[in-house]
Parts: sequence; structure tokens; C-alpha cells
Amino acid sequence: MTEAQRKQEIARRRTFAIISHPDAGKTTLTEKLLLYGGAIQLAGSVRARRDSRATTSDWMALEKQRGISVSSTLLQFDYGGCVINLLDTPGHKDFSEDTYRVLTAVDSVIMVIDAAKGIEERTRKLFEICRLRGIPIFTFMNKMDRPALNSLALLDELERVLGIGAFPVTWPLGSGEDFRGVYDRLRHELHLFERTARGQHRAPNQVRGIDDESIRKQIPERIYAPWREEVEILTGAGETFDVAAVMAGQITPVFFGSGITNFGVQLLLDYFVRYGATPQPRISGDTPIPPEHPDFSGFVFKVQANMNPRHRDRLTFVRVCSGTFVKDMIVNDPVSGDPVRLSYPQKLFAQERESVEIAFPGDIVGLVTHKAFPIGATLTSNPSIRYDEIPRFSPEAFAYIRNSGTAKYKQFREGLDQLLQEGVIQSFSSLDAGRATTLLGAVGQLQFDVVMYRLHWCAGLAPAWTGARSRT
Ligand code: G4P
Repeated sequence: MTEAQRKQEIARRRTFAIISHPDAGKTTLTEKLLLYGGAIQLAGSVRARRDSRATTSDWMALEKQRGISVSSTLLQFDYGGCVINLLDTPGHKDFSEDTYRVLTAVDSVIMVIDAAKGIEERTRKLFEICRLRGIPIFTFMNKMDRPALNSLALLDELERVLGIGAFPVTWPLGSGEDFRGVYDRLRHELHLFERTARGQHRAPNQVRGIDDESIRKQIPERIYAPWREEVEILTGAGETFDVAAVMAGQITPVFFGSGITNFGVQLLLDYFVRYGATPQPRISGDTPIPPEHPDFSGFVFKVQANMNPRHRDRLTFVRVCSGTFVKDMIVNDPVSGDPVRLSYPQKLFAQERESVEIAFPGDIVGLVTHKAFPIGATLTSNPSIRYDEIPRFSPEAFAYIRNSGTAKYKQFREGLDQLLQEGVIQSFSSLDAGRATTLLGAVGQLQFDVVMYRLHWCAGLAPAWTGARSRT
């Protein structure tokens, strides 16, 4: 592969996550992006998969039982000549540490807001993290098919509550029952949509110029007049779309739509592909390492085990930052410094896996390993590169754990060590406790439930808890 081809591969990567408050519509939008990306034929399969997980994996049963998404999923698909890497972020607040780690691995985010509710607490927190990292943020005002807050007020809220400038790229025509379409303010085109049964297929779409007389015949005056007036107000404000300000995280491009009916989703995807950030440099010491740097480098942002009973092993997720990743390449072990071969790299699509031969900056590679690389570790062929992307969070909940009975002590220790390596929990030495008792710290209570679940249901152990842990 020539240098020019490699640069082209880098330039066509878009690696992002969707952030939102639970229930704002992240799963639905993910699915619709896949539908428009051609990665699935019929919408419904991602949610169906999520809902049927208990039958395929007992690990997923925890998610179902608690109605949350614990395990992060990676989705990769091609769209508009680009390779889209979409990282799912866990929705529950106790997993904020995990979410933070995922956000270190992306180059942009799409923030989904429920247009009936405006900015909710969790969105605000996730936004703050993105802002600290200077990540470009695209905003999708979702659920416009339901009675929504006033669109101008929603824009105002972005500026007032989040302190970010907002540039509406699309503007809704009507809302709730009257939601008919969106106006693309950059291309001066009105997209009128039709609903399809349960939004399973792409929404049929007519495109019109703003002054097209036929619009007035199709759209009742009570919907048309306020829309036209708002469009004039926005045009009169005279703001231009400042791509540099978007890249700097100072302005968020805003798209209106409805994930469930597919309205406005394709425009979001089209503009995201066009303006979403390409792979960005990561910092080693004080030096930014550009993705075009010839040496391979990446860092571990997640370690996960036992996601699927068909693959009872451990997956180490690596964000490729520079150079080219090639199957079976040798890097330095980040702990011992010894050479280590990166075998069994996997490309992931939800729970499915496929072997990967080559990956470029922006890509996420899942390494199937027996020995875990620690979270935050740099994998590279150039020992002078060392990333420090992932901070440790202070635990807020503590509990002692021990194995009831002496049987299976080795499995208990191994199981616990694995969870520590995955970064689910942290362990502390305690002077007043015996060898059989370990003090665990977690960012939230839910992580203790995950520990319990993994040790008890997946490994058949009988852990006992004492201390501050409130749930059993
Ligand atoms: P999340 O991942 O952010 O938690 O949200 P999710 O997509 O699971 O959506 C939460 C609920 O909001 C779901 O309803 C979903 O159908 C609904 N929803 C998502 N997008 C839209 C939209 O654009 N318009 C409307 N009207 N609803 C939307 P649910 O009742 O919890 O589930 P279900 O019965 O629909 O499966």
C-alpha cells in the first residue's frame, strides 16, 4: 500500500459515539443509522437483539433485568465512501467511568436530545466530558413526531445550558402529528417525508426548493406559515456554518428529526460523513502523534470478557492511533517490555466477530487475548510513543468481598483478577482484613452487581459481601 492510499484510508474514517440521557432514543437512532448505512435491511433487529439477549447470553440477562446497556458494542459500516466506526456507550450512570474511556477512543460525538424534554442531566454530564476533550459534537433533536418544545427554544437551551453555539443545519416543518419534513438550510432544500410501517424502511422523501409553489398545496397554512417565518428569522440572523468552530467544539451543528419514523436521519448521516472529524492526533508526553505517523500505535480503552457464551474469552479493545495495524504484528508488551504478537484481531459487529487483517487509525480492533493488557496501555512498535489518555476515577462505593467456603478459591481469585483487569472495579489492601477478604471500590453500586453476576452466575462461585455495599 502506498503512502497516498494509507492517507486516504485515514481520511475516510469517522469514529464516533452517541451520547444521550437514557430513553432519548440512542438505540433507535443507532439502528436507523445502520439502516441508512445499509448494514441492516430492516430496522428492528438491533432492538430485537437487545431484547432477546437473555436467551442467547446469561451475561446479557443482567442488562435485560436492569433495563440497561452494560457492555459496549462496536459497529462498523461503510457509508458515502467512508468507514464509520460507531462505539456504543453504556447508558447507566454507574458506568460513567466506562463511558469516559469510550469517549477517549472517538473523534466526534452525536448528542441525541429528546425534543420534548430538552437537555437532561446525563446529557449535560456527557457533554461536559466531550467539551473537556474538545470533541466536535453534532446534535440530533429527536422525537419531533411527538409534541416537542419550541425549536428556537431548544436552540436557545443549547447555548444557555451547555454554553455551546448552535447552528441549525436542518429546520423542522411542523412537529408532533404535523411533523412533515425538515429544511436543509445549507442546500436550501425542503425534504418532505412519508411514514413507513413502524419505520422499518427508509422514509420516502421528496426534495423541494423553498419557494416551490407545490409545497403550499401540500402543507396546510397553519404548519407552513410559522415554519417559513422561523426560516426567515434564522436566515436574517446571518450566521454562516463555521466548520472550524465545529471542529474546535465551539459550535454544534443541529439536526431535527425522528429516529422512529426515520425523518431527518439520512441528512444527519450525510452531513456527519462530510463534516465529522477524521482521526485526530493523540498526545504522547507533550507531542501530538498524527495518525499519518508511520509507526503503529494504539491504546487499550476497554477490556471485556464473557460477552457471549460462544466466545468465552477476553477482548481487549484497542483504538488505532497511528501507523497501520497488521494481523500478527509484534509490539512491545506494555508491562514487561517483551515482544508480543497481536494475534486473533477481530472486527466486531455487535455480537458478531470477523477476523481482521489490517486496520487504520480511527479503527477499533478487538484483540482476543488470554493475558489482558491493562486499560490505558499503549501498544506500539515505537517504544518512544506512550499515551496517557485514560484517567482513573475515584471510587465512590466500597465493599468487602470473600469467597464463601474454601472450595474454588483459585477460581474466585482468577475471576476477581479478571474483573480488576477489565477495570470494572478497583481493589485495595486492607490492614484489618485477612487474606481471604478483599476491599473493592467502584464508581457506582451497579458495578458490584456486575461483579456478583460474573462470579456467581457465570463462574458458579458464592461470593459474600460485607461493608458499604447496599444491594445484594
Ligand atoms: P435509549 O437507547 O436512548 O435509551 O432510547 P431508545 O432508542 O431505547 O428509545 C427509548 C424510547 O423512545 C423507546 O420507546 C423508543 O421507541 C422511543 N423513541 C425513540 N426515538 C423516538 C422517536 O423519534 N419518536 C418517538 N415517538 N419515540 C421514539 P419504548 O416505549 O421504551 O420502547 P418500544 O416500545 O418503542 O420498543
